[in-house]
Amino acid sequence: MRTAALFLLFLAPLAAAGNSCLECHAALEGRLQKPALAFKIDIHSTRGFGCTDCHGGDAASGDPAVSMSRARGYKGKIARTAVPDLCARCHSDSNLIHKFKPQQRVDQLAQYRTSVHGKRLAAGDAAVANCVDCHGVHDIREVRHALSPVHPLRLPETCARCHADAGRMSKYKIEHTQFDEYRQSVHWTALAKRGDLSAPSCASCHGNHGATPPQVNSVAAVCGTCHVLFEELYKKSPHQPVFTAMGAAGCIVCHGKHKIEKPAVKMLSGDGSVCAQCHEADSAGGRAAAEIANRIKELDAALGRSEEILERARQSGMEVSEAQLQLMDGRENMIKARLAVHAFQTAAVAKPVQAGLVVAGKTYAAGVAALKERTFRRFGLSISLAAILATMAGLWLAIRSIENHRGPRSGTGGS
Ligand code: HEC
Ligand code: HEC
Ligand code: HEC
Ligand code: HEC
Ligand code: HEC
Ligand code: HEC
Ligand code: HEC
Ligand code: HEC
Ligand code: HEC
Repeated sequence: MRTAALFLLFLAPLAAAGNSCLECHAALEGRLQKPALAFKIDIHSTRGFGCTDCHGGDAASGDPAVSMSRARGYKGKIARTAVPDLCARCHSDSNLIHKFKPQQRVDQLAQYRTSVHGKRLAAGDAAVANCVDCHGVHDIREVRHALSPVHPLRLPETCARCHADAGRMSKYKIEHTQFDEYRQSVHWTALAKRGDLSAPSCASCHGNHGATPPQVNSVAAVCGTCHVLFEELYKKSPHQPVFTAMGAAGCIVCHGKHKIEKPAVKMLSGDGSVCAQCHEADSAGGRAAAEIANRIKELDAALGRSEEILERARQSGMEVSEAQLQLMDGRENMIKARLAVHAFQTAAVAKPVQAGLVVAGKTYAAGVAALKERTFRRFGLSISLAAILATMAGLWLAIRSIENHRGPRSGTGGS
């Protein structure tokens, strides 16, 4: 049985050579021709599969009445609701798939059934995404390929075909803004503009086939899979139990879910700060917010001053690289302070701020000393310069007076 299947598998490429489906369809037009033209680059084609592996029928016969006959197993165009089962016939078969790729997953259909897409499709709603909406139909590529519609850089547009379509989404009463918002986020900037493939695309947070990525049981908890230290602090903070009880979802209460912007101190204080949404200015939370903001601003300003003076010293030719290196420790403390914000306790932030202020103080002093040294050297330099000039002037005068005493030389005619 097994050997027979294997034998057929190896025969497939031979059959493809005389593939009547391909040949006849390549000569047709429009939607009937497109599959035949696209199929060359399809991974199933390059792995030796042909039209009949999905559509049935008989590729050996050039007579459409035979090749596309129900008697030969021809299924016609595949209905949208039938697609996942069709693909899974092979993709849930580890014996088959692992012959081609030993480590490949074979749980796509099982996962898909847990997603909103899969559940709605099972209930008969064909408008949701099925396998071919994300992967393509006759031009399916390896998922790692840069031109694959599920490559992290292309995936947002693939999802957006439906999710940015207001008309399509209004029926379900969900937003259609995820794509626009995501494209304004720090994550898209990191991914697309800086090529940082560790930044999330749609499927990193939502899972590719299942409802959520494997490590989490709710999309709202997904941030912590990458921002581990932030989550650790948040979990121990006074917010975690109350947000959970309120049904509010962790990080996204303050950062949003799709349009995540670069955080700044304005999140803590001033109009429109996130803390002010829930805390009156004179409450414990409100006072903590103001104090944390002040400490962060204080350190930021101090580090800024150090940076500025050291840069001035460097530009005037002083050697300050050691102090500049030290200043990076100060910046490190700034990062620690922004992380410590997530304990939502003034004391937690005060610690790294204090350490940072010490570095800022030292490096500022180094900058002052360097500029003083420069002034001193300039003063010394101008004195020696004046002395040299005076000597040169004296020398010149002396030479002139000797020449005048000699008078014009004979023969050359003088000047
Ligand atoms: C000699 C030409 C010819 C051959 C061979 C042929 N087809 Fe077709 N095929 C057509 C034409 C013409 C149509 C459109 C008319 C129709 O639906 O019958 C079509 C339609 C189709 C459709 C679309 C049906 C729909 O409902 O939209 C599919 C899928 C298809 N063919 C697959 C195949 C497969 C698979 C094979 C090989 C087993 C094959 N064809 C062989 C000419 C051919
Ligand atoms: C990996 C499975 C698979 C293979 C291999 C495959 N098809 Fe298809 N084909 C599909 C699915 C799924 C659909 C339905 C797509 C949709 O819903 O838009 C389809 C649709 C079609 C259609 C209808 C197109 C339309 O827009 O109405 C034609 C014609 C067709 N296939 C021909 C072929 C031919 C010819 C080959 C071989 C060159 C081929 N297919 C190979 C899965 C496959
Ligand atoms: C909502 C979009 C979407 C749907 C629907 C979808 N996929 Fe995927 N698929 C993806 C993404 C995204 C990846 C992962 C790409 C990556 O790893 O970068 C992927 C990866 C794969 C892989 C590579 C192995 C793996 O699991 O990572 C296979 C095979 C695959 N999908 C088959 C299927 C099949 C079969 C179906 C239907 C049952 C399906 N996909 C439905 C988006 C989708
Ligand atoms: C006749 C068996 C068969 C059918 C039917 C089939 N596939 Fe495949 N597919 C394979 C094999 C074998 C591979 C190569 C192994 C691999 O790369 O995972 C493959 C590879 C893939 C890949 C590339 C995965 C990677 O390595 O990055 C994707 C995506 C994919 N198939 C999607 C689909 C979709 C979507 C359908 C349904 C429209 C489908 N397949 C139907 C056998 C099949
Ligand atoms: C072919 C169109 C289509 C494509 C492509 C598509 N979706 Fe969907 N998606 C839908 C529809 C329709 C629903 C159902 C809406 C509902 O029930 O809320 C849905 C539901 C969802 C939901 C659940 C929304 C809720 O109700 O909370 C999420 C999350 C989702 N899609 C994410 C994605 C992601 C991520 C991608 C790309 C990897 C994607 N979708 C691609 C059509 C699509
Ligand atoms: C950084 C993680 C992350 C990324 C990236 C991401 N999402 Fe979401 N998405 C979420 C969270 C969190 C929710 C809210 C879930 C909840 O409220 O339980 C959500 C909700 C959704 C919903 C449900 C409707 C809604 O707006 O609440 C859809 C649809 C959706 N996202 C689609 C997308 C699409 C399409 C992309 C890519 C363009 C994307 N998401 C990128 C985290 C993300
Ligand atoms: C797949 C991993 C991943 C997931 C999931 C993820 N992020 Fe990120 N995040 C990153 C990467 C990578 C960066 C870019 C880091 C950088 O700018 O150096 C980033 C940047 C950020 C930044 C900006 C940091 C800065 O200093 O500019 C914030 C805020 C952020 N993420 C919040 C979130 C929130 C909230 C969620 C959940 C809704 C989330 N992230 C989910 C990987 C992830
Ligand atoms: C109660 C509001 C709140 C919650 C909840 C929250 N954050 Fe923040 N987050 C902030 C504030 C405020 C800042 C910015 C402080 C600043 O820049 O002065 C920030 C900054 C950040 C930064 C940027 C750090 C940097 O170096 O610039 C990241 C990344 C981040 N948060 C991730 C998360 C993650 C992940 C979660 C969930 C585990 C989370 N946040 C929960 C308020 C919050
Ligand atoms: C979604 C509403 C919400 C947001 C936004 C929010 N908090 Fe809270 N916070 C609460 C609730 C509820 C409590 C617990 C009840 C209380 O003590 O007020 C709490 C408690 C606190 C506490 C402990 C107060 C105490 O009595 O010990 C501090 C400190 C705090 N929050 C700071 C902040 C800071 C700083 C921000 C902005 C970065 C912020 N919160 C944003 C709702 C919020």
